[in-house]
Amino acid sequence: MATGLMKTVGAGELRASDVDSSVVLAGWIARRRDHGGVAFLDLRDSSGIAQVVVNPEDAPADEATINGLRLEYCIQVEGRVRLRPEGMENTELPTGAVEVVASKLTVLSTADPLPFSIDERADVDESKRLQYRYLDMRRTRMAENLRARSRVIQAMRSVMDSEGFLEVETPTLIASTPEGARDMLVPSRLRKGTFYALPQSPQLFKQLLMVGGVERYYQVARCYRDEDFRADRQVEFTQLDFEGSFWGQEDVLETLEKICTAVVSDIRGVELATPFERLTYDDAMDRFGTDKPDLRFDMEIVNLDEVFASTEFKAFAGVLADGGTVRGINGGALGLARSGLDGLVSRAQELGAKGLVWMVVEEDGTLRSPVAKFLSDGELAAIIDALDAGPGDTLLIVADRVRVVRTVLGELRLGIGRPEGNNELAFAFVVDFPVFEVDDDGSLAPAHHPFTAPASLDELVNSPATAVSKAYDLVLNGAELGSGSVRIHDPEMQAKVFEVMGISDEEAEARFGWFLEALRYGTPPHAGFAIGIDRLVSILRDEPNIREVMPFPKTQTGADPLTGSPGRVDAAQLAELGIDIRSEVREEWAEEESGDEDGVGA
Ligand code: AMO
Ligand code: AMP
Repeated sequence: MATGLMKTVGAGELRASDVDSSVVLAGWIARRRDHGGVAFLDLRDSSGIAQVVVNPEDAPADEATINGLRLEYCIQVEGRVRLRPEGMENTELPTGAVEVVASKLTVLSTADPLPFSIDERADVDESKRLQYRYLDMRRTRMAENLRARSRVIQAMRSVMDSEGFLEVETPTLIASTPEGARDMLVPSRLRKGTFYALPQSPQLFKQLLMVGGVERYYQVARCYRDEDFRADRQVEFTQLDFEGSFWGQEDVLETLEKICTAVVSDIRGVELATPFERLTYDDAMDRFGTDKPDLRFDMEIVNLDEVFASTEFKAFAGVLADGGTVRGINGGALGLARSGLDGLVSRAQELGAKGLVWMVVEEDGTLRSPVAKFLSDGELAAIIDALDAGPGDTLLIVADRVRVVRTVLGELRLGIGRPEGNNELAFAFVVDFPVFEVDDDGSLAPAHHPFTAPASLDELVNSPATAVSKAYDLVLNGAELGSGSVRIHDPEMQAKVFEVMGISDEEAEARFGWFLEALRYGTPPHAGFAIGIDRLVSILRDEPNIREVMPFPKTQTGADPLTGSPGRVDAAQLAELGIDIRSEVREEWAEEESGDEDGVGA
């Protein structure tokens, strides 16, 4: 590391080859042990840990100072590197062969007793960790995650740069962009009663950059979406956003392969095989029950409609007669007792299934199942054949509407098959997304933002429910890592698509008139993508949620326990903005305050 003037070397960089050199270290006391009047300090800085020997006889500092050294004091040590005595080496530490004998020790800052131990082994409640994030990031887990995040972004920038992309910053105080979430709003003081929106993504600006002749754009972009928190969602998150002119889907997917291979090679030291696996949306939904399949394992969903076409088993016959479907998975050798199988049935019901048929293949090849008696020998044999089942396998079958069957089997598949501790990376592209997702009640919800080109305008107008778009996703280990599309570059088609999406002419003109106008000045065909950087880093680091790879994330309730945001503002500030807090909200505040002596929330 570049050390600056207060130290000559990073603590974690010392090696046997440094023996006899004089060094100056600076960092924090991670550990103190005392043996025979000599203090052994683990001195930690951002490069790692070195052992420092503080012998009062060498008088590196006065005795009171030495005796007073506590954990997490920030200190500077001058000394000489020597080999540790034989048998005292620490093979766990890269610096474990050596130690530094202090000739001078200066306390740069003392530390109060800590709210939790920096020691990695101590289990600390997450709200405490977030409240004291600046201490939490002294711990190895966060420190390594932040480093990995930085390297991922660095690797991305380096690919984008060498591919000729221009890094352009787009504004964060903007008019609303329709990505499908609720906008975060910022009131304007100069034009009271009006609001900026924070960008849900730079979507429209990057398209304007294409109109502007930039041809290759990228940005590490902060995005804001007022949506419910989940393990993989925050209100504020970061994308690698990019766009190219005279580009189609293949150009985008090829660029994504370059980015992902470079990142994975840097972080994991693994060379990914390209081209990535590619599935159509329909294929993904049929085989895995989801548009973001985890491809680290097979266990594909199998259609059993033919097997049960003329079944006497009423539950299945009824569903098929109503236009539903019967599908199943081979869960493999689960070896579940009756209670475990019942657990799967309850899980399926929680997920919306009317029921779940389980079957276990016995040693003699027969099927044990509560419904076996309703099924013919021919059906039982056909099930075994269709699901490629052998002795010991547990088969799970659901009959219902297609949507339900996919969801239920897709989730059961993940629950049963997801490989524990398997940190393989299964990247894949899902292409040919539909324009709309069809809800149970038949209503249509756009699957992507309305600037996505349809595969065919005719198809979109005449059969919107099944129309396909030029949209594609990148998935990794069962997560949606990013999405993009070929854009509409023709203003007439854009107007038509707004119409089909249920955005009236007047609304389109009022909200996006400026954008429709821009499309009229010789817009090049263009396409692009955005990768969720938080999601990518969390998966590469095997972290269960994206908060672990964000320096200062919000909690599940959108709060920041460190700074206390979101917070109330004073009356004068509100008056300046022309904003009043509604009386019912003030009443809620009063109630909170009367029941909350600590004034939390103020
Ligand atoms: P999309 O809305 O699919 O596409 O977002 C792209 C990727 O951003 C990440 N992401 C999130 N990460 C954390 N918290 C969130 N709340 C959150 N929301 C999204 C995901 C997601 O796949 N403008 C388009 C891209 C384009 O068409 O070029 C867009 O934003 O990893
Ligand atoms: P029933 O005829 O409702 O008593 O159901 C007999 C068995 O079939 C039970 O084990 C149910 O869980 C199962 N079952 C009922 N309906 C369905 C369905 N739609 N899909 C899968 N299994 C079902």
